[in-house]
Amino acid sequence: MPIRALVFDAYGTLFDVHSVIDLCEQLYPGKGEKLSLVWRAKQLEYTWLRSLMAEYEDFQRITEMALRYACKSLGQPCDTEVRDTLMNAYLRLAPYPEAKGALGRLSGMPLAILSNGSPGMLNPVVKNNGLEDTFAHVISVDEVKIYKPSPRVYELAPKKLGVPKEAIGFVSSNYWDAVGAKAFGFQVFWINRTGAVPDELGRSPEAILNSLAELAALVGR
Ligand code: 2OP
Repeated sequence: MPIRALVFDAYGTLFDVHSVIDLCEQLYPGKGEKLSLVWRAKQLEYTWLRSLMAEYEDFQRITEMALRYACKSLGQPCDTEVRDTLMNAYLRLAPYPEAKGALGRLSGMPLAILSNGSPGMLNPVVKNNGLEDTFAHVISVDEVKIYKPSPRVYELAPKKLGVPKEAIGFVSSNYWDAVGAKAFGFQVFWINRTGAVPDELGRSPEAILNSLAELAALVGR
């Protein structure tokens, strides 16, 4: 079925969560990269655990708790000032280098973000990157109070866009998210910038792309 709308994951797909490494390095010399990696890994783990416990905490809180853990795991202090600095950096994450150009080539097609992020995190990062006119919808899991890959999250996109799920292309760099979206019934494009090995989760995306720049050609733009 031809694709009539595209829905993007935010963190790790459009915005580089590891663009905070330089700041982490300034705050924790010699430990910046490790801190960023543990922070992201715990952030995701906490979303899955919270969902399994049926105890939703918004992504801002999850991200802050993951930061506290990451600092603790490296034996580092995490005072309020440092936490505020790093949490604010999340509102200014850099987009991947090709992201803006790739989105520009898709103009005319309805585009949306569907993310774990809370509205208080997503709206600023979109605005700070000058992308507020790019997306018809910025959809947060906060509406259903459970995290990806719950089908209740993916269900939000066809509802908001008014497009059947089979005609929606879902774009994510997070393989587990791509698989969740595929299980829900989207057509899925996995952005594999790092040559990662696909997880064994029983589903495969429609296409594997090296970057967002390859998307337009695949959807006939
Ligand atoms: C997002 O939902 C999975 O962090 C990723 O934006």
